[in-house]
Amino acid sequence: MTLVALGLAVVAFFYVRYRLRLWKATRAKRLTLRADSAAKAGDRTARPLTQRLHTHLPDAAVRRLMRWSPQPDRFWHRWFAPRVTVARRGLFGGPVRVDPAQHIAAIGTTGSGKTSVLRVLAAWALARPDWMVVALDGKWGASVAPYRRHCRVLDDLGEIEAFLSDLVRREFPARGRMTRRPHLVLIADESRLFNELSAAALADLVTIMQTGRELGVHVWAGLQDFKTSSVPSEIRMLFTARLAHLVPTAEDSQVIFKDLAAAGWRPDRLERAGQLLVWEPQRKKARVCFGLWASETALAGARNRVCLVKIPPVHVPVRSAVRTPSDLRVQAPNEQRTNTRPPVADDVLTALMTSPEPLGVRALARATGRSPAAVHAAVNALAADGAVTRTADGYTIPLHATEEE
Ligand SMILES: Nc1ncnc2c1ncn2[C@@H]1O[C@H](COP(=O)(O)OP(=O)(O)OP(=O)(O)O)[C@@H](O)[C@H]1O
Ligand SMILES: [Mg+2]
Repeated sequence: MTLVALGLAVVAFFYVRYRLRLWKATRAKRLTLRADSAAKAGDRTARPLTQRLHTHLPDAAVRRLMRWSPQPDRFWHRWFAPRVTVARRGLFGGPVRVDPAQHIAAIGTTGSGKTSVLRVLAAWALARPDWMVVALDGKWGASVAPYRRHCRVLDDLGEIEAFLSDLVRREFPARGRMTRRPHLVLIADESRLFNELSAAALADLVTIMQTGRELGVHVWAGLQDFKTSSVPSEIRMLFTARLAHLVPTAEDSQVIFKDLAAAGWRPDRLERAGQLLVWEPQRKKARVCFGLWASETALAGARNRVCLVKIPPVHVPVRSAVRTPSDLRVQAPNEQRTNTRPPVADDVLTALMTSPEPLGVRALARATGRSPAAVHAAVNALAADGAVTRTADGYTIPLHATEEE
């Protein structure tokens, strides 16, 4: 009898202990769930009124409110590097600006507004006299369509690879000798492009990104995700500015911002296309911004200027037979060296480098502000040197100038 009672007591003990543990586990789970939903609700109520409005307004209204318009040129931009307004802090809030002279990645899931923000940046660069743009196609022509009227567009992968190689081997040494270098920006609005490049072209791109900032060459890319599977790791970390649009998961935020994700850099918490977090190393606080909306038509119809930087004459001894603007300056026959104005040949070369299409003598004279006779003489000397070629539409720089040994 005593034994049975003892057995029952043991069973009762284990049963009660099991029930107690079960209850504790369920309670803990319930509490976490409640804390999570409270945090989410807190997040939502903590959003400023403009963000709540931005989230709930119809697309057409938001696009109208956030419509991009050209950024005026200020006189202080002559002395201080300008910054580009890409977003606003609220529907009617102050501008959010980024430094354009760096590698910029616009990251976000499909339809989150990357292309729009790249168009805003591109429209700004196209209107500057010291910036030139080259658009690299990664979407069978769709993403570069509005650029065609304004700048050089490279559609073909082979052409893109040849351009990258030419940039590193021919243009970089020439840029290295210039005192004021025109900025060149490569716009690649698709991560597919980075994955399709051959190993040699990828190495060129890495060189461009590593050394390009000082030489005035920048890459602005639109990337659907920031994982190594989409963007090669060699170039991922070289983007010094990140415009993070809506991404699907918290893990994506972690990939984009690493430790900063814990400090509130969470693009997965954004709520609609056009919202973004603008990160540059000096920005400490994650703040939701609303991207400006630049449609394809707006970019296609944007004001465009030929990039024309006057390069002051710098006398560099000719060391090889590589044709660079400095070499040609030494060889150009009719140059006067009594004033500080750069030689006509330099101006002609810069105008041809920056023009998306071949230019005739008159167009070159207009672009350089020189007399047609001087341009004619310079262009003839350059053509005799093989630095420019004549086509049916005018003069142009041969795409793949080979180095003579
Ligand atoms: N700044 C913005 N304000 C309001 N709506 C926007 C903004 N940017 C984009 N959108 C909306 O999102 C849609 C998609 O924009 P966009 O083409 O820029 O996205 P995306 O990220 O480039 O997409 P994909 O990855 O497919 O190329 C636009 O048609 C527009 O309706
Ligand atoms: Mg796009």
